Amino acid sequence: MLAVEVSRHGGPEELVVVERPEPAAAVGQVVVRNRWIGVNYVDLQHRAGQPYPVGLPLIPGTEAAGTVVAAGAGADPGLAGAPVVHFGHLGGVYAELTAVPAEFVVPLAAGVALDAAAAVTMNGTTAYVLTSLASRIGPGDVVVVQAATGATGGAVVQLAAAAGAEVIAITSSAGKAQAAAGLGARHSFARAEVPDPVAAVLSVTGGRGADVVYDAGGRDTFEMSLDMLATRGTLVLYGQSGGPVDPFDPGRLSGITGAGRGAGSLTLRWVAAGHYLASQQDRAAAVAAVLGQVAAGRLSPRIAGRFPLSRASEAHAVLAGRKVLGKILLQA
Ligand SMILES: NC(=O)c1ccc[n+]([C@@H]2O[C@H](COP(=O)([O-])OP(=O)(O)OC[C@H]3O[C@@H](n4cnc5c(N)ncnc54)[C@H](OP(=O)(O)O)[C@@H]3O)[C@@H](O)[C@H]2O)c1
Repeated sequence: MLAVEVSRHGGPEELVVVERPEPAAAVGQVVVRNRWIGVNYVDLQHRAGQPYPVGLPLIPGTEAAGTVVAAGAGADPGLAGAPVVHFGHLGGVYAELTAVPAEFVVPLAAGVALDAAAAVTMNGTTAYVLTSLASRIGPGDVVVVQAATGATGGAVVQLAAAAGAEVIAITSSAGKAQAAAGLGARHSFARAEVPDPVAAVLSVTGGRGADVVYDAGGRDTFEMSLDMLATRGTLVLYGQSGGPVDPFDPGRLSGITGAGRGAGSLTLRWVAAGHYLASQQDRAAAVAAVLGQVAAGRLSPRIAGRFPLSRASEAHAVLAGRKVLGKILLQA
C-alpha cells in the first residue's frame, strides 16, 4: 500500500512517499481503508520533531474517515464494512490502510459524508471539549478566540457563537478577520491591523475584557491573551503553534503583582481533548455531538483544500503558509 513516512525530522520535504505491506488486524484492532485523512497542525509538529517529541520512523496522522475492511480477534466483527472515523491515536494514518485499536474507531450513521466527517472529527471534537466539557460556554459569556479561522479556532468560534456567547475573533490577516465574522464572531480583527489588540478587545467589551480566551498560539500570543481577560477570567491554552510559552510567574494571575492592567483572580489552564475523550464512549458521544451541530447548520466542515495522499508534503507547506481558511484533507 501507499503510505507517507517521516524518517528524519525536518520540513515538508521529509514526508516521503513509500510502499509498505498492508497491515493486518491484531487482537483488538480493526483495519480501516482510509478515504479522507485530516491534516492537523500537530502533524506538522510531529514531522518537525518539536515541541512534541515522537519516535521515528513515523507514518504521521491522527485522524481519518474510511471503511473498516477487517476486524481482529476481540474487536466487534460487526464493524466490518462500516463507515467510520478514527482519531486520537498517533501513527499509521497517512496511508491507504491503518490498523487501529477498535476503541479509537467511531462508526458513522448512514448518509454522513466521509469528507465532512474527516474535516470535523479532530477539530470539531476539540472545539466541543473546549466549549462544552472543559468549560460550558453560554449566553452572557464574552469569548476571545485566537487563530479564529484555523480548523480548530474556526470550530470554536462557531460552537461558542451557537451557544450564545459574544465571540471576538482574532486572526493574523484582514482576510481571515473577515472570514471569522462569517463564522459568527460579533467582532473580529487582525492582530497586525490594529495598533493594540488588547485595547481593541477592551474597547468592544466596555473596558471589562473577556471571560474566556482560547489560545493555541503559545509563545506568540500568550501575553496578549492574558491581558485580554476580565477579572475572574480564564485563559485556556490548547496548543503552541508559535512555540512553547516562556516561564511564567503565577503571581501575575492575582492582578496584584506584576505588570498588566489589574484584572485579577485569573485562571490559566491547559486543555488537551484526549484527556476529556479518554474512552470509546467519550469519543463516540463527542463525534455524535459534533455531527449533530453540523446537521443543524451550526458547524460547517470548511474544507479548504484537498490533496492526494502522495502530495502530503505540499499540503503541509500550504498549512504552514498560514493562508488556509479551514481544513485540509488528503485523499487516500
Ligand atoms: N489541545 C488539543 O487537544 C488540540 C487539538 C487539536 C488542535 N490543537 C492545537 O490547535 C492548534 C491549531 O490546530 P489546527 O489543526 O486547527 O491547525 P490549523 O487549522 O492549521 O490552524 C492553525 C492556525 O494557527 C495559527 N498559527 C499560529 N502560529 C502559527 C504558525 N507559527 N504557523 C502557522 N499557523 C500559525 C494560524 O492562525 P492565524 O494565522 O490567524 O494566527 C492558523 O490558522 C495547534 O496548535 C494544535 O496543536 C490542540
